[in-house]
Amino acid sequence: MAPYFGSAVSRIDGVAKVTGAAKYAAEFNAAGLVHGSVVASAVAKGRIIRLDTSAAMQVKGVIDVLTHKNRPRMADSDQAYKDDVAPAGAPFRPLYDDKIMFDRQPIALVVAETSEVARFAASLVEVEYEKEGHLTDIFAARDSAVPIKPPENPSEALFTPPKPRGQADQALAAAAVRHEGEYYVPIEHHNPMELYGATAIHERDGKLTIYDKTQGVQNVQRYLCSVLGMKSQDVRVISPFVGGAFGSGLRPQYEALLAALAALALRRSVRVALTRPQMYALGYRPAMVQHIALGASTNGTLDAITHHAITVTSRFEDYFRQETGWSGLLYECANARYEHKLARLDLPTSCDMRAPSAPTALFALESAMDELAVALALDPLELRLRCYSERDQHHGRPFSSKALRECYRQGAEAFGWNKRKPEPRSMRDGSDLVGWGMATGMWEALQMPIAVRIALTANGSAEVACATSDIGTGTYTIMAQVAADMLGVPLENVSIKLGDSTLPNSPVEGGSWIAASVSNGIATTVAALRNRLSSLARQVPSSPLANTAPEEVALADGMIVDKRDSSRAISIADAMRHGGVDRIVQEETTNPTADQSKARNTHSAIFVEVKIDEEIGVIRVTRIVNAVAAGRVINTKTASSQILGSVVWGIGMALHEETLIDHRFGRVMNANIAEYHVPVNADVRDIKVILVEEADDSNPLGIKGLGEIGIVGVAAAIANAVYHATGKRVRDLPITLDKLFA
Ligand code: MOS
Repeated sequence: MAPYFGSAVSRIDGVAKVTGAAKYAAEFNAAGLVHGSVVASAVAKGRIIRLDTSAAMQVKGVIDVLTHKNRPRMADSDQAYKDDVAPAGAPFRPLYDDKIMFDRQPIALVVAETSEVARFAASLVEVEYEKEGHLTDIFAARDSAVPIKPPENPSEALFTPPKPRGQADQALAAAAVRHEGEYYVPIEHHNPMELYGATAIHERDGKLTIYDKTQGVQNVQRYLCSVLGMKSQDVRVISPFVGGAFGSGLRPQYEALLAALAALALRRSVRVALTRPQMYALGYRPAMVQHIALGASTNGTLDAITHHAITVTSRFEDYFRQETGWSGLLYECANARYEHKLARLDLPTSCDMRAPSAPTALFALESAMDELAVALALDPLELRLRCYSERDQHHGRPFSSKALRECYRQGAEAFGWNKRKPEPRSMRDGSDLVGWGMATGMWEALQMPIAVRIALTANGSAEVACATSDIGTGTYTIMAQVAADMLGVPLENVSIKLGDSTLPNSPVEGGSWIAASVSNGIATTVAALRNRLSSLARQVPSSPLANTAPEEVALADGMIVDKRDSSRAISIADAMRHGGVDRIVQEETTNPTADQSKARNTHSAIFVEVKIDEEIGVIRVTRIVNAVAAGRVINTKTASSQILGSVVWGIGMALHEETLIDHRFGRVMNANIAEYHVPVNADVRDIKVILVEEADDSNPLGIKGLGEIGIVGVAAAIANAVYHATGKRVRDLPITLDKLFA
């Protein structure tokens, strides 16, 4: 395909975004729009025994205060449709009853003429609680943690806990060289720039149109219909742009339901925008306490892996992914055993965050591999090569493709890894200690069922429609690229419609699966369109394509062309005009066809340089090379940006990010982006992204997706570089200066 597929096309929505023309959920307006402000619980667990709204109601401009006592009817938590991404359990419903299950739980919504008045009046709502004892500390819950219950019908590997193999304990005991250690990653919050918000438009006929911040408009639409007992045609959810979500928008969050409840109660249009602190009561990346043991032979091959993990969930839902499975999958090893327990805490349910489970699990595994390399006196890259796995270790399947060796080679070369001196503290730059570390990354390459509609007009313009989101990854742009190439029209002729629940069916945008899903979806729809054009072309009097079969034509430069003989061609415009049609609309559903006898994954190799001023303990990440193999890349610019952004987040994970809870109150202490530290420009130096070529056949277009792989392994590579610089191994994140000094 040409000329757009594989090139560095700039975002087609870029100008709208930087000029402010792109509207986000809380920016839509309606006549008579009113504003809701959330009152959040001040305790972590208990019951509301008195909720006095009289002072709030007296404020001029206040319209109503919604609580569990006067809200419209909602379906019972166990009966209603949960949501596409819901784990086992009973999902939280705002204003459902008097029960408090976590700190900052929404317990009332003050609705007023302006957001300022609503927010002020919310501060006047008086609440009396009957407090119950709470537990929010994963370490205090270690002994009460319960084993995960595998889902009954796991659809994909991501949700399937791994099966043990061989005799891990015996092999570990017999191993010539052993390393074991405990690793910790704290709770992290997504902190997207765009605050969660929803604008619910109350239409004249009682229907609701809801602009919501979400990664799945149809998921939110189904959820709201079910919870509110509304008909599917009466609720429409729209989300044209998303200012970052990273997994926090995979599940419907409570702002949409609150806005809908208020709109139904007041028969008015209502906007609910959360504050930054309130966003700390949505989901989070679960903290993870992990114990890893590795047994190896003296030549550096692995004999045994055991991986025990405890992750955090709420009291009411069991969220987990296959956190322990990565360690048994990444390297060749005959014996592996896993244990995964859940600490049920008085917190909101944990949820997906970019590459859910992999960055936390691989922080432990890839730190442990680095420690094993030290024990074996082997170069850490050499150790990875000696353990290189050509087959999926869980199922013994080959990979659909795996260019990880090439990632190692190209990454090491670009970084200059061969100049590394093995001894810790052996490299310096002036007074700074210099450390070089590396790690491997791995993620899933999934495809989901999706429907795409294309409307092609005789003048050669096309509208491509699908209910997927663009969460900032570049979906608008790659959809236009793929459609333009396949339809043989200029990129400017293609317009994209997405983020609307009335469009053809799409899964939530997540799991790095939309690029492969929607691109192959476009291919299917274009193929059906081409067949219709080909039959129109054959009917044109004395058509040069009269004897050309539908599968023998291609679309190029506005023409329907015989693939074998390009002189036999007829313009799309002529074919449609002769057929008396000025617009062809085609919609097709595409199901994944991947061969289940092969494993489908993306891989990466990360190389990091840190410079550390020992006197003040400051760690600077001066260089990172991330070489990624993710099948065919549709857009080298947006793809590189995905990896760049992921690497920056990896720096944050390694050095800055940590949600701190005051366990006496069960409250997040740093619920703001001043005290929840994320990397800023000054923390980010030289990052080089290498997109390694990889031919793949797990879907017709060979696309694997790369929205998530870029973060996996980065924190481990940084921790390993810190060890190399200082000789100090820090096994709990983030690596702050107190831990370096300790
Ligand atoms: Mo991603 S954590 O599937 O948005």
